[in-house]
Amino acid sequence: MEANEFLEAVTHRLADYVASRDRRERVNPDMAPASLRRTLDVQLPIEGHGLNPVLDDLDNYITNSVKTHRAEFMNPLWGGLSLPALAGEMVAAATNNSMYTHELSPMGTLIEQTLVRRMCDMVGFPDGFGTFTTGGSNGNMLGMLCARERAVPGSTKRGFDGSSMVVFVSAEAHYSVLMAANVIGIGHMNVVKVGCDNEGRMRPEALEDEITRAIDQGLTPFCVVATAGTTVRGAYDPIGALAEVAHNSGLWLHVDAAWGGTCLFSTTHRRLMDGVEQADSVCWDAHKMMGVPLVCSAFLVKEPAVLRTLCDHTSVAHYLFHEDAENHDLGRYSLQCGRRNDALKLWLEWRARGDAGWARMVDTYMALGDHLEHLVNEHDRLEMMSARSWTNVCFRYTHPDGLENLNDLNVTIRNRLIQSGMFMVSRSNIGDDVVIRCVISNAGVSEASLQRFVDEVVQLGDDVIRGLPPKA
Ligand SMILES: Cc1ncc(COP(=O)(O)O)c(C=O)c1O
Repeated sequence: MEANEFLEAVTHRLADYVASRDRRERVNPDMAPASLRRTLDVQLPIEGHGLNPVLDDLDNYITNSVKTHRAEFMNPLWGGLSLPALAGEMVAAATNNSMYTHELSPMGTLIEQTLVRRMCDMVGFPDGFGTFTTGGSNGNMLGMLCARERAVPGSTKRGFDGSSMVVFVSAEAHYSVLMAANVIGIGHMNVVKVGCDNEGRMRPEALEDEITRAIDQGLTPFCVVATAGTTVRGAYDPIGALAEVAHNSGLWLHVDAAWGGTCLFSTTHRRLMDGVEQADSVCWDAHKMMGVPLVCSAFLVKEPAVLRTLCDHTSVAHYLFHEDAENHDLGRYSLQCGRRNDALKLWLEWRARGDAGWARMVDTYMALGDHLEHLVNEHDRLEMMSARSWTNVCFRYTHPDGLENLNDLNVTIRNRLIQSGMFMVSRSNIGDDVVIRCVISNAGVSEASLQRFVDEVVQLGDDVIRGLPPKA
């Protein structure tokens, strides 16, 4: 098979896949892990099969993948499929320029610089810079590493004793902060979880108390991580007030805006991140609400020199970095060596939409979140489980006479939802309560699809209460 013929066949499959987003079929494959393993041939051959069977393998893969481009996919904090970004992903793979040097990625470098600077402007870091990373988890880690270098200058080179260094996060922060604590060398136990108000926002007075307590115990506070859009409830910590507390104690403030950063496009909703310009660093995932394929995420820092110091290991790489391109090589601001061009897909999407298009998207998603909240509030067998700030809608099915174990009931409903393949949403906890968490982060979602979702949940809840078995 010739290259052109092969590529045409692949493109044809991609076009079919994109078109299938409107088809009413299962969102997830109808197979348990064991039967998937038995049914599919994924063995690696001694002698290669050649190009033709690759197309069969692709067909199998597409059939057995979760259809994240469907409106019914509302499980993690991302979904949908947008054509400019898809094109960027494909071309980035085909051209395979690596982002470490300008020499090896000339236009890619220009594009990433442009995006990082624009995102810095949007958060209010006029002299800031940053890098694209593998996600919010690594963005949080970079923020904490910068904080460590600031608190213990030279720790990048000499190492440090992290056993008494503490970082403060909201009790509802993402688990990547624990990972980062491990990697930067302070350990999980030096992550202090600060109490939240009843809407899931870190309380500045509680932060102040925790900092005082840590100092009294002989510990060394060095960093606060605020969350702009928590994973479960979509709560926004009060960044301005937290910045004041952090900076009064000389601590670095990192803002985890992996999920909620996109609010900055909307004149109506950007107030959620008021005070972000006072932060020292921010991470922001374009692969969440902005709908760009995984992975695409920016780490932004107010004073780029700290990030540059963290990446001082690059100064020994005479085989890669040279003096003449000192100010152009993005590898000097990254912990990665070979690095994909994740900027191209975001840039193309941004060029296609413009700032105004992103703003409309945010406002539309928020309006759809309002609509879903309204449907939940209107229904006597559903109840909201948290106030809403963002597009996370946390609710549960309730039993009118309150006799049922609501946690078990909602676990069963969510399991049946996944088994039926009709919708994919997440199951989470708020305190001791199990909630069904739905997020609007997918351009396919509409008022009609949300109505179908609510009807499906109510139907499944009614079935469980009546003792009916799951539908075959
Ligand atoms: C608030 C928050 N921060 C960080 C992350 C981690 O982001 P990533 O999956 O891009 O590493 C998530 C992921 O859901 C998140 O919700």
